[in-house]
Amino acid sequence: MSTDSDVSIGFVGAGTLGRGLALALAAVGCSVTAVSSRTRASADWLAERIDGCVALDTPQDVADRCNLVFITTPDGVIAEVAAGVNWRAGQGVAHCCGAASTELLTAAADAGAAVGAMHPFQTFAALSEPAAAARRLSGVTFAVSATGWLADYLPSLAQRLDGRAITIADEMRPLYHASAVLGCGYVTALLDAAISLWTQMGFTVEDGVQAAVPLARATIEAIAAAGPAAAVTGPAVRGDAATIAAHLEALSQHAARLIPLYRELTLASLPLARSKGVGEADLAALSDTITAL
Ligand SMILES: NC(=O)c1ccc[n+]([C@@H]2O[C@H](COP(=O)([O-])OP(=O)(O)OC[C@H]3O[C@@H](n4cnc5c(N)ncnc54)[C@H](OP(=O)(O)O)[C@@H]3O)[C@@H](O)[C@H]2O)c1
Repeated sequence: MSTDSDVSIGFVGAGTLGRGLALALAAVGCSVTAVSSRTRASADWLAERIDGCVALDTPQDVADRCNLVFITTPDGVIAEVAAGVNWRAGQGVAHCCGAASTELLTAAADAGAAVGAMHPFQTFAALSEPAAAARRLSGVTFAVSATGWLADYLPSLAQRLDGRAITIADEMRPLYHASAVLGCGYVTALLDAAISLWTQMGFTVEDGVQAAVPLARATIEAIAAAGPAAAVTGPAVRGDAATIAAHLEALSQHAARLIPLYRELTLASLPLARSKGVGEADLAALSDTITAL
């Protein structure tokens, strides 16, 4: 079983990723035919948006109806969900967890199912319609590891979504996933910190978002165009210790909780500063300034 027309795809877990991936697969012509979730309302939400997809009561109902089941629950319950289903030999079962490989699906493998881990290096937040979900996956890297027919089929799904499949050694998956978290969730935490300073200045969160987003977007675009070393700006990479000292003084008065974060990011910027030609004496002055407070 390896052609799209043969494969009916089901989802267990209609949350952030389950919704986005199911919508995107449907948008590129895959047969997404069934979904179940912990709550019926979540399954209904997804089924209502995909032609030919039905909301079912249990993971077993989805497994009985589909050739390939994506278990898109939180990471901590994937193995438990997999262990609660009677899988058929030859059926496909996959998850989208970044940090773990197919070991979460041992129960399905023991029953003779082909198993796979297919993790998109992308965020699925705030997707509600198929075309937007498909656009979000275009150009995305998928870490794929699979057995049986899924070894060919999951990479073909990534390609169909206009993404690219790569292989990450199982022991490297936590490191790979740390990269995803640094590049997504922690970017959000960082921008939240930047935006919070606007409220300290008497503006609203919306004012902060309006100010920060064009700046962050241009930064990302510059990185995409030329790489981090060419894109980075700011006092640390100019060797400007006096401005760093002024920032630390302001933070100590208005947002002291952000000083450790600011300090670590300044230190993390020093290799970029060096690559841009900042001399060793200026780098030492920066280090002294940042560790003095
Ligand atoms: N979020 C992302 O952008 C992203 C990106 C890459 C990979 N992932 C991976 O995708 C997977 C899902 O993450 P998520 O962010 O989508 O989580 P999420 O938003 O919390 O969604 C998980 C869904 O699973 C359902 N669920 C929870 N326990 C269940 C159970 N025992 N049986 C059936 N359904 C259950 C919940 O359903 P109800 O709504 O019905 O309560 C919930 O909607 C994880 O493996 C994660 O690592 C996520």
